Amino acid sequence: MNYEVPKKKITLPGLRKLIQLYRYIKPYRFEYGLGLLFLLGSSSASLVFPKLLGQLVDLGNQGKLALEINKIALILIAVLVGQSVFSYFRIFLFVRVAERTLADLRQSTFNHLIRLPMKFFQHRRVGELNSRISADITLLQDALTSTLAEFLRQLIIIIGGVTLMMITSFKLTLFMLSIVPVIMILVVFFGRYIRKLSKQAQSQVADSNTIVEETLQGIQSVKAFTNEFFEMSRYRIKTLEIAATGIRNGKLRGAFSSSTILGLFGAMVAVIWKGSTLLATGELATGELFSFVIYSMFIGGTIGGMADVFARVQKFIGATEDLLEIFNEAVEPVDDQSSILPEHLLHGSIEFDDLSFSYPSRLEMQVLNHISVTILPDTLVALVGPSGAGKSTLVSLLLRLYDPTLGRILFDGRESYSIPLSSLRSQMAIVPQDIFLFGGTIRENIAYGKPGASEDMIIEASQKANAWEFISKFPEGLETLVGERGTQLSGGQRQRIAIARAVLKDPRILILDEATSSLDSESERLVQDALEKLMKGRTSIVIAHRLSTIRQADHILVLDNGRVVEQGTHLQLLKVSGGIYRNLSDLQFAG
Ligand SMILES: Nc1ncnc2c1ncn2[C@@H]1O[C@H](COP(=O)(O)OP(=O)(O)OP(=O)(O)O)[C@@H](O)[C@H]1O
Ligand SMILES: [Mg+2]
Repeated sequence: MNYEVPKKKITLPGLRKLIQLYRYIKPYRFEYGLGLLFLLGSSSASLVFPKLLGQLVDLGNQGKLALEINKIALILIAVLVGQSVFSYFRIFLFVRVAERTLADLRQSTFNHLIRLPMKFFQHRRVGELNSRISADITLLQDALTSTLAEFLRQLIIIIGGVTLMMITSFKLTLFMLSIVPVIMILVVFFGRYIRKLSKQAQSQVADSNTIVEETLQGIQSVKAFTNEFFEMSRYRIKTLEIAATGIRNGKLRGAFSSSTILGLFGAMVAVIWKGSTLLATGELATGELFSFVIYSMFIGGTIGGMADVFARVQKFIGATEDLLEIFNEAVEPVDDQSSILPEHLLHGSIEFDDLSFSYPSRLEMQVLNHISVTILPDTLVALVGPSGAGKSTLVSLLLRLYDPTLGRILFDGRESYSIPLSSLRSQMAIVPQDIFLFGGTIRENIAYGKPGASEDMIIEASQKANAWEFISKFPEGLETLVGERGTQLSGGQRQRIAIARAVLKDPRILILDEATSSLDSESERLVQDALEKLMKGRTSIVIAHRLSTIRQADHILVLDNGRVVEQGTHLQLLKVSGGIYRNLSDLQFAG
């Protein structure tokens, strides 16, 4: 995905944001200050340069001694060496400060982002967030290392250059300054148009990349639907558009380049013409004219580059505002904890007290409606009900991924808020409905349940989850790579790895969301078997569509439209004639 950082007008709040950014540079401010000094040094050195060259010419013109000429030449060489040393240190120091500042900024952004509550991620697309942050950070890097330096250098050169020119010849400077606006208008006008076109080209390129990306990601669907030719023509149209924009841009750039050459050389001719008339009247020396022309070229080039730097500064402000906006979002109170205080240990009883909920992104839709349920310690509770009833939502509230809009959740009779969030979550484990595996090895994926677990613990957990049998058949065993998001494993294998991960965590409360949904009957029996063992001595909540898996549950809750409509044991619920559970059961066991 391609993200274009918006340009921002330079405003007071924008500048205030920049001051916030200063917090990150602050630890390195002396180094940055030193870099600025070197910048000042190298820019001033480049200003002295034309002056000295002019003097050299004048000395030659006046037929001075070789000694004096050599002296100036030596000074020139010294200035040259000084300038190159200054430039080196300026760049070196700026890059060092920028890299370390960015490392800090990257870390705090990630650290902040990862602790934001689920509701933040609800209304943002992860891909966009990701590319936005990386675009912002790249711009900041650019700004800290080159844009700001470039901006300052240009200021110094223009102000210093014009001052020195005034000293050399006031008349000629005025003459030159009267030509400058003409060239500036030219540059600004063309520059704006060219930028607009290249922006257009950029977004067309991004569009065409999206086609390639999506097509390749969904290559299986493309082939299955024989849509190769459809995609080819989609891509052809886009690439032709890119070419057309590029060619239009090229025409414009050609015109721009030829007219700037005309403008610059024309200005030079004009200055030299005017200078020569001053030479003739003796108001100006040859060397002075010489340095004057060099100054003019310097300043001309600098003004030409200024529009670009100004645009970059505006973008930099946009990026800073963008990035710092994330820091205005409140984080969840998660903390890093290796041990849980005894008073925060869960005993396994759960109570939903008049719980209601709607997702922050869809407030008008009530997903859970006044749910009141008590779950006893060490029991197996099953949640069943039609798709969309709110089963997965209920368990995500239990994990406090979202806050209820109404009502409370109690653990062992205590408000869930009274237990630190991380302590609470660390005593629960969930095998979610859509299992997510990280792109590494099987070992890494299982160990995610308990970072630092030993080999034996991992093997034991996979045995309990009935996963060991297929893991040990892989030539590489635990080191087998699972592919991006686990795509190189079958659905049932992924599920068992997720179960092993939950087992390894050894939670007080175990939540299984459709844990047996993608298994064949034999594997289902194996997993079922494993789960029964696992559920001993802990509270378990199982969400299932297949009733066969939950027959032996201590308590079954039937959810429909966010309400508990029936509850009881399997046998009790079967007696409710016309009940949802009875109907489901009739359907599933009909065969
Ligand atoms: N992140 C979300 N943002 C907004 N609405 C959501 C979100 N997740 C689920 N919903 C909506 O909440 C309702 C309940 O969804 P939930 O996932 O809890 O159903 P479920 O009972 O688990 O269904 P299934 O059996 O299909 O898994 C649905 O109408 C769904 O569209
Ligand atoms: Mg669900």
